[in-house]
Amino acid sequence: MLHKCLFPAAGYGTRFLPATKAMAKEMLPILTKPLIQYGVEEALEAGCDVMAIITGRGKRAITDHFDISYELEHQIKGTPKEELLTDIRKLINQCTFTYTRQNEMKGLGDAIHKGKVLVGDQDPFAVILADDLCVNPDGDGILKQMVALYNKYKCCIVATMEVPLDEVHKYGVIEGNAIEEGVYMVSNMIEKPESDKAPSNLAVIGRYILTPDIFNVIKKTEPGKNGEIQITDALCEQARKGMVIAYQFKGKRFDCGSVDGFVEATNYFYSQNRE
Ligand code: G1P
Repeated sequence: MLHKCLFPAAGYGTRFLPATKAMAKEMLPILTKPLIQYGVEEALEAGCDVMAIITGRGKRAITDHFDISYELEHQIKGTPKEELLTDIRKLINQCTFTYTRQNEMKGLGDAIHKGKVLVGDQDPFAVILADDLCVNPDGDGILKQMVALYNKYKCCIVATMEVPLDEVHKYGVIEGNAIEEGVYMVSNMIEKPESDKAPSNLAVIGRYILTPDIFNVIKKTEPGKNGEIQITDALCEQARKGMVIAYQFKGKRFDCGSVDGFVEATNYFYSQNRE
């Protein structure tokens, strides 16, 4: 049963300095909601009720955000502003939030491995990178689409989208054969390749469903790109055994780890809200 979602949130967010000097990048808001809350809402919609967050130094605001603020509740009770807390109250009531800290930045693979203590090693789990903000105005959210696919194939699933070749160096890139429309059996994966070495222009974006055997694979994974333990390399190992599927999701993704993507997301949600 897939009901836990891991949120690696220990990164420094250096692209948003100085805003992220004392504040977690996952708390940067798109309109009035912090990035990580969009991720938690997507996970809840997909059927997850345990949100397992990997934090680090300077990330306490995340923990406080998903907890009741008694002073605030007291202050705004009975006022029109109370309505602004409806969504976050719903999340606090419906989900359990668990936390552990990654005290050294050793890569996304290492951060996910740190989450083993939170998600256990018995069940599949989801991973959301909150700075990839995903929406599907026409139907199910991206993670919910992936859960449906997991129920069919019962193996690791990565979300992918086509990107221009001159941008593949920012992503994990897959090689695979289509087995259904928009669904690929992955045979190879490369973390942030040069454009001339990329096996395709299908980039991995920050949504994964992982089976718990990934933890043993990560443990054996040597540091890769940038000297970090890469989840892409661990998944590549699984892909060679035919155990990874890539899914070209339906919807939009904003790269809120970059200033351009962040502004684009802000404009998008602002215009949606006005409608
Ligand atoms: C991470 C992953 C990469 C993936 C990307 C999606 O990279 O390592 O494979 O394509 O997220 O956003 P990062 O953006 O943390 O450098």
